[in-house]
Amino acid sequence: MRVLGIETSCEETGVAVYDSEQGLISEALFSQIDLHIEYGGVVPELASRDHVRKTIPLIKQVLADSKEPIDGVAYTQGPGLMGALMVGSAIGRSLAMAWGVPAIGVHHMEGHLLAPMLENPAPQFPFIALLVSGGHTQLVDVRGIGQYRLLGDSLDDAAGEAFDKAAKMLGLPYPGGPQIAKLATSGTPGRFKFPRPMTNRPGLDFSFSGLKTFTLNTVAAEREKGSLDTQTQADIAFAFEDAVVDTLTIKCRRAIRETGISSLIIAGGVSANTALRAKLASMVKDENATLYYPRPEYCTDNGVMIAYAGCQRLLAGEHTSLQFNAKPRWPLEDLAPLSGD
Ligand code: KG4
Ligand code: ZN
Repeated sequence: MRVLGIETSCEETGVAVYDSEQGLISEALFSQIDLHIEYGGVVPELASRDHVRKTIPLIKQVLADSKEPIDGVAYTQGPGLMGALMVGSAIGRSLAMAWGVPAIGVHHMEGHLLAPMLENPAPQFPFIALLVSGGHTQLVDVRGIGQYRLLGDSLDDAAGEAFDKAAKMLGLPYPGGPQIAKLATSGTPGRFKFPRPMTNRPGLDFSFSGLKTFTLNTVAAEREKGSLDTQTQADIAFAFEDAVVDTLTIKCRRAIRETGISSLIIAGGVSANTALRAKLASMVKDENATLYYPRPEYCTDNGVMIAYAGCQRLLAGEHTSLQFNAKPRWPLEDLAPLSGD
């Protein structure tokens, strides 16, 4: 089965053609970061307008590389920005109707969660998923496609959001995650010690708002002293990143121990973080577990993960009605197991 995937939930227009027999056929991505950078974050209306401009030309591009006909269309149905979701879902459903093929609305986080399946070796079920993106920080017990039990969630800011806000405090541009990571490489370990929120009590939930306040206070104190130079900024970036990475690692170790599941996957934008990958790699070694992650370009938003996830559900005979149905809010646990599982 050959599936066209369309991702337009936030600031990336991503499209791809995935074939269940032949694998990835073609992909194209346009990032709107330059459009939003002067506002320090994503402006929803600008995002929607740009998806309107880019989605169809990108689809034309990937279809030109796909010599065989498309058997189904997958589009991100939610969660995300309403206007942005509407663009991809309207285009996806219209194409499906015109071509006489089924359409499937994909949950954006299921797309992220299944992205490690595109790599070799792919993880086997069951596994624990750490989903860390701009809007989510979740630990999920995954028994199969659509069989998701939430183990832990963020009580406030998501990990990516915390990276973005800390970067802003240091005067770095949006999106802050990669900027903090880059600056942190020249930071001095040990100069600042940031808290590891919620690690001293049981449970697998996260909270990053206290860490955000701690960062703000540290930046303000250094500025007050007139010592917020480049080295100090790098030292703060290092301490911040180290605290987030350590917190995520502690919770992942706990999830492995509590569930007895020995495969851990990480996905979502923050899973591209090199320090996180390194720390988790050493933790899973201690725990006799295995770590899986997507290549960096499939950690952040892309059309390939949507084409892949949609393809699995279409193969199981599922499809979404052609009625309007974008869902800006959509809990992952509301998804149903793959038909037939
Ligand atoms: O998955 P994603 O592309 O979009 C959402 O679904 O939200 O994640 C974007 C988030 C942003 O907050 C960005 O700062 C963060 O992922 N991010 C990173 C890195 N690359 C992207 N955070 C830390 N280190 C990185 N290398
Ligand atoms: Zn995402």
